[in-house]
Amino acid sequence: MGFLQTIRKKTFHLRYSVMHSRKLPFIILKPFYLIARFFILGFPGMQYNIFTRMKYKKHLHQWSNYTCEDRYPELFAICKEFFKDRENVKILSFGCSTGEEVYSIHSYLPKAAIIGADINPYNLRQCKKKKPPKNVGFMHTFSEEYRQSKDFDAIFCLVVLLNVKNRKANVATEFTFQQFEKQLSELDEKLKTGGLLFIDRTDFDFMHTSISDRYSPLDTKGNRTVTERPLFDANNTKISDKQDSYRVFLKREYSA
Ligand SMILES: C[S@@+](CC[C@H](N)C(=O)[O-])C[C@H]1O[C@@H](n2cnc3c(N)ncnc32)[C@H](O)[C@@H]1O
Repeated sequence: MGFLQTIRKKTFHLRYSVMHSRKLPFIILKPFYLIARFFILGFPGMQYNIFTRMKYKKHLHQWSNYTCEDRYPELFAICKEFFKDRENVKILSFGCSTGEEVYSIHSYLPKAAIIGADINPYNLRQCKKKKPPKNVGFMHTFSEEYRQSKDFDAIFCLVVLLNVKNRKANVATEFTFQQFEKQLSELDEKLKTGGLLFIDRTDFDFMHTSISDRYSPLDTKGNRTVTERPLFDANNTKISDKQDSYRVFLKREYSA
């Protein structure tokens, strides 16, 4: 008797009971279920990312959550130096992801009140797990408390106002200049006159927005950078493969 025949004979009863079992549909579906479960529940936070993408599709700018500690030491140092003689400084980290940016700013300005805001509820849960000190808090960007928050002395908006799918396109469609300008107008309303706006890694130039006439690039070392990333204009057309831009802006008094 050949090898295959022996196997077939020995597994006859097993195969028979499987094929005639009422559980057959479940047995067939189980591998698909396990694969789906691995991808959806297997990676921490993945289910929340899917949920966030579905629920906030129209509002989500940059969908990646990547962040790390002290990611922008030169920007945090500029902030520390600018507010060194000031008490009661209030700072917003918009798109704070899992909180590393907030905790880094806290290490530079330990007395400042810092709010981290994000659209992804999973990120905010991770932020809160890190046991924030009293002067640090986290909010969802669709919450009432965030809507009412204002009078910030500094706003950080780093690696939020972009979409990776724009990067290979000649026209920005996934995240547009209109969304960019709208989001910055909302942040502008929350920033005090005399305050600082930190904005880095975007698809557009802040100086092209209508609100930029109230702002001047802060005159400080390390503010201007040249980066190899595409730049789109106010019509969403790619105008360069390089960005030569400022990252810190001072909000001036309004002069009509
Ligand atoms: C790449 S992370 C940047 C994290 C941090 N700012 C940094 O630079 O390390 C982008 C973050 O922006 C958040 N985000 C995207 N669209 C947003 C929106 N409309 N409102 C608030 N947060 C948003 C994402 O959830 C994500 O946590």
